[in-house]
Amino acid sequence: MAKKDLRIGLVGVGFMGRTHTNGYKRVSDFFPDLQTRPVLKAVCSRTAATVNAFAEQWGYETVETDWKALIARNDIDAVDICTPNNMHAEIAIAAAEAGKMILCEKPLSRTLEEGRQMVAAIEKAGVNNTVWYNYRRLPAVTLAKQIVDSGKLGRIFHYRANFLQDWTINANVPQGGQGTWRLDVDAAGSGVTGDLLAHCIDTAIWLNGSITDVSAVTETFIKERVHQATGAMQKVGIDDACIFHCHFDNGSLGLFESTRYARGHKALYTFEINGEHASMRWDLHDLNKLEYFDHRDESIVRGWRTIHVTDGDQPYMDKWWVPGLSIGYEHSFVHQVADFLKSLETGEPCSPTFKEALETQRVCEAVLDSAAARSWKNINAY
Ligand SMILES: NC(=O)c1ccc[n+]([C@@H]2O[C@H](COP(=O)([O-])OP(=O)(O)OC[C@H]3O[C@@H](n4cnc5c(N)ncnc54)[C@H](O)[C@@H]3O)[C@@H](O)[C@H]2O)c1
Repeated sequence: MAKKDLRIGLVGVGFMGRTHTNGYKRVSDFFPDLQTRPVLKAVCSRTAATVNAFAEQWGYETVETDWKALIARNDIDAVDICTPNNMHAEIAIAAAEAGKMILCEKPLSRTLEEGRQMVAAIEKAGVNNTVWYNYRRLPAVTLAKQIVDSGKLGRIFHYRANFLQDWTINANVPQGGQGTWRLDVDAAGSGVTGDLLAHCIDTAIWLNGSITDVSAVTETFIKERVHQATGAMQKVGIDDACIFHCHFDNGSLGLFESTRYARGHKALYTFEINGEHASMRWDLHDLNKLEYFDHRDESIVRGWRTIHVTDGDQPYMDKWWVPGLSIGYEHSFVHQVADFLKSLETGEPCSPTFKEALETQRVCEAVLDSAAARSWKNINAY
């Protein structure tokens, strides 16, 4: 049977533009049962030379230099937002109003208010949508979800996550513009809270349920940086580091830390969950492995075991190679494309939807408010 085309219009050709395009290009080969196939119809970036080169390299049929022109086209079914955070709301709301499906990068928005407007627009339009919290779709992380849901851990006491980097320690790193928009509060909305902790919060809520209240501390170690747009030294408005603790609805305690000042760490995302019977931990640097400890094991062989998540009966792995052979970071995006296409067939939402991703925005906003006020914040107030 002929497959249905899903005509993609991609906005933004940086890091995520590449990972998503790779996902669109690989998915039909490795998920042959899907009834829909993505078609690289159009790509948009502001500079003609850049967008032409990207289209040529990756195989897009056409280009645009204005995202509004891309959205106005009637040969685009789904708009994929891979721009800095300050463009998410405007593009998503316009795309929803034009009746397009939307795949939006994380964090959903810079602020909770922006996120709420995006959710309202999506719900009014009734269009399919998803937010690229891609770490959920690494097989070891999906397996962690299956293990939690099976009840093997028993009552959960602790959830702990870190996301550590070191790329902004040098005070000469500028803020704003290509490559360093993450340091500009107007473009990014926040620092590590929205950029890195948002991933940790999304995974945590998915694995361990809602967060009820938070107490946070943030720090901006380098107070002024040159802004690329003005060439002037300007105040830095983002959080360079953030640590918060929290309660989950299930009674467990959470502890989260993120920084761009942990010398030696490039992208160390780790989490650990401690339950009554068993614990689990995962590390992005060794992403195919899930570590598991079960207190019910016979005492003489009891200890942490490493599950190499590559068997065909483990999540997504029947689509790839043979047991024992690893896959990588990029596969999480292929999996998200596959799940999005599947959701079009089943009618089930592709998690996290905008509405689900708004939960992470609520926590992020409460974390930043808590740090500013030096007090606990209840998520229900958000
Ligand atoms: N899921 C993840 O793990 C992950 C990882 C990295 C980034 N992200 C998110 O993806 C988004 C993009 O991040 P990135 O690392 O790809 O950034 P990037 O700087 O590498 O790329 C951004 C792209 O957007 C383009 N752009 C900016 N303004 C535009 C406009 N008005 N119209 C058209 N194009 C425009 C830029 O030219 C650039 O091509 C951010 O929201 C970021 O938080 C998510």
